[in-house]
Amino acid sequence: MKRAIELNINGDTHELLVAPNHTLLEVLREKLGLMGTKRGCDLGACGACTVLIDGEAHLSCLMLAVDAMGKEIMTIEGLAAGGDLHPLQSAFIEQGALQCGFCTPGMILTAEAILNEEENPSEDVIKQKLAGNLCRCTGYKKIVEAIMSVNEPK
Ligand code: FES
Ligand code: FES
Repeated sequence: MKRAIELNINGDTHELLVAPNHTLLEVLREKLGLMGTKRGCDLGACGACTVLIDGEAHLSCLMLAVDAMGKEIMTIEGLAAGGDLHPLQSAFIEQGALQCGFCTPGMILTAEAILNEEENPSEDVIKQKLAGNLCRCTGYKKIVEAIMSVNEPK
């Protein structure tokens, strides 16, 4: 039986009817059309579905939508403010840190979570915390360089 829930996504409240076993990833893509959150493995192994929950990176394929109630969810669509690219988005473009782009939303949101946690993280910390986000194109070097180039004031 479906359940009525409210989700706060990118600052907007959405009232939805979801099945108890619907994942947050399914709801974002299939009910809300937020296709920036990618479905890769659907098993918690690739990081493509990463979103921010209360500022921390989470895999939306492993989270039930009903468990996301009462939390602040951010998808890649919510990162650019007022039409201006977020500094991480600009850095990825400037440093050539993407090719096909399939991993990019998850990479950028994981990077945002890293920078939320720690100002000026070291290369080793970035690599360690990005370990769950797989990229099949770039070789990771430019991704790490792009993240290191962003020094976000906190
Ligand atoms: S789709 Fe969620 S980790 Fe791969
Ligand atoms: S840019 Fe293609 S998978 Fe990362």
